[in-house]
Amino acid sequence: MTKLSPSILSADFSRLGQDCRQVLEAGADMLHYDVMDGHFVPNISFGVPVLKSLHAALPDAFYDVHLMISRPQDYLETFVKAGASLITFHLESDCDAGQTIRKIHELGCKAGISVKPGTDVRQVLPYLDQLDLVLVMSVEPGFGGQKFMPQALDKLRLLKEECARRGLCPYLEVDGGVDETTGRLCVQAGANLLVAGSAVFGAADPAQAVARLRAL
Ligand code: DX5
Ligand code: ZN
Repeated sequence: MTKLSPSILSADFSRLGQDCRQVLEAGADMLHYDVMDGHFVPNISFGVPVLKSLHAALPDAFYDVHLMISRPQDYLETFVKAGASLITFHLESDCDAGQTIRKIHELGCKAGISVKPGTDVRQVLPYLDQLDLVLVMSVEPGFGGQKFMPQALDKLRLLKEECARRGLCPYLEVDGGVDETTGRLCVQAGANLLVAGSAVFGAADPAQAVARLRAL
């Protein structure tokens, strides 16, 4: 079964705890937590204190933290302390990728690397053996509700082949414009973890949306 990480960027922040509880009860495997700094991406979302509150309210949830920030290394420890289960940073950010992965692991957290649509996914391959997750962006990071970019499918195929060749099975996650139609294409191309924001929280029945996306 495909795993699903609903992006809470599309939730109603005035009732964030309830929205998160609802999707978890509906079977969501984790919560996707999009951190934006207004510098790496042209938008600002939420940071450490919101994660801390959510973690206190829902301590058993798995927090899939997606850092869209310029200097991820400076914030790893605070995000882990706040409850992050897995931290994904961008290969395009200002950091040493190998060092950043090591630091995340030293903090007892799982580690992922993400690539923007314009980045060659082969740049991730030197780190593949150390990663718990690779996140392929299928929109330009920064905003929910954008249109899926099909170039992501080739990246997923390449990653899946390379993982099979090396006997690895990290999460291959895809993020941006994922709904039932595009999500199915992603799963066929090799994704085993879908992020969906508007397709879940914008649905008339979010619980049903979770079930349908996990069934892909
Ligand atoms: C975009 C974020 C996504 C976003 C996805 O930069 O990384 O996680 O919330 O939203 P949808 O599923 O609506 O495209
Ligand atoms: Zn994201």
